[in-house]
Amino acid sequence: MNGYYDIGLKEYRLREICSVETESGFEFVKGDISDRNFVTEIFDRYEPQIVIHLAAQAGVRYSLEQPESYIQSNIVGFWNMLEACRKKAEEGKHPEHFLYAGSSSVYGNNKKVPYSEEDKTDCPVSLYAATKKSSELLAYSYARLFGIASTGLRFFTVYGPCGRPDMAYYSFTNKLKNNGTIQIYNYGRCKRDFTYIDDIISGILAAAQVRPVPDENGVRYKIYNLGNNRPENLMDFVKILQRELVHAGILPKDFDFESHMEYVPMQPGDVEMTYADISAAENDLGFRPQTSLEEGICKFAEWYAAYYGEKREGDNDEI
Ligand SMILES: NC(=O)c1ccc[n+]([C@@H]2O[C@H](COP(=O)([O-])OP(=O)(O)OC[C@H]3O[C@@H](n4cnc5c(N)ncnc54)[C@H](O)[C@@H]3O)[C@@H](O)[C@H]2O)c1
Repeated sequence: MNGYYDIGLKEYRLREICSVETESGFEFVKGDISDRNFVTEIFDRYEPQIVIHLAAQAGVRYSLEQPESYIQSNIVGFWNMLEACRKKAEEGKHPEHFLYAGSSSVYGNNKKVPYSEEDKTDCPVSLYAATKKSSELLAYSYARLFGIASTGLRFFTVYGPCGRPDMAYYSFTNKLKNNGTIQIYNYGRCKRDFTYIDDIISGILAAAQVRPVPDENGVRYKIYNLGNNRPENLMDFVKILQRELVHAGILPKDFDFESHMEYVPMQPGDVEMTYADISAAENDLGFRPQTSLEEGICKFAEWYAAYYGEKREGDNDEI
């Protein structure tokens, strides 16, 4: 529940989860994972068999402005999770499996496509990417030294209803809705492997069922790409977004998109292309993304229209 973006969105998600998870024993506990005592207490209280660790300071560009937050959450916080697993293991309450969110950003400006888990990931082009790569290394050392079996899931541009407002599909929508101008990076010459949130969730749940088998050194450690295996041109993505925003009634039919676009050079920390080789996740986890960009953006636009439509009735906040 940090303030990186509108906390109202996080509260909304929590209400949604609580409304459907009444039977499952879902509990929300608010705290900071960079606080070691907090993390230790949670592990003592719940003694988890499976840990799915998704919390992080996300965002590539923000890591240039607020590096500390990345070190605190993605390095110190991540390490606290591993330490808590280790402590439980020493008490004989060994968590079976530690899963965590990795990122396609670790591939940097990899020239070879599609990006495979076997590719080198030694040249991160942002601090965010460097922290995500570091968390993989920390996880490996804990798997090797203390037998904490772990699976890292490198997500590729995850999007969907109630997603992150700093990501292009959402921030473009906010700007266009407010009659602003959107910036098209690298003059539109970018490609992204967009992955719909439901497909990512299927991948996480499948991975949680598959404890990594020991490698030749006896280490239970695995990394998978979770992407769509279908990179889309930035300009094709913009066209789909435009169509769906009109379709959902967020923008009028005669909206002049071209006059709201500014073509700008590549931004520091950004990469030209992301493209996932998902054959390992397909073979080991049965991971097969089902959602096309058209369908996914349509669902986002419908959610956006409903969410901000209702919000508008109650208050007149700027979006
Ligand atoms: N969305 C994507 O395209 C994408 C791509 C690659 C990887 N990821 C990774 O997936 C995970 C989820 O990302 P998201 O896009 O949902 O971002 P998000 O910012 O919506 O979710 C991350 C959550 O972690 C919480 N958090 C951050 N620091 C914390 C701390 N110190 N203590 C407790 N909570 C803390 C934040 O409050 C936030 O709610 C992250 O690990 C991110 O790096 C996301």
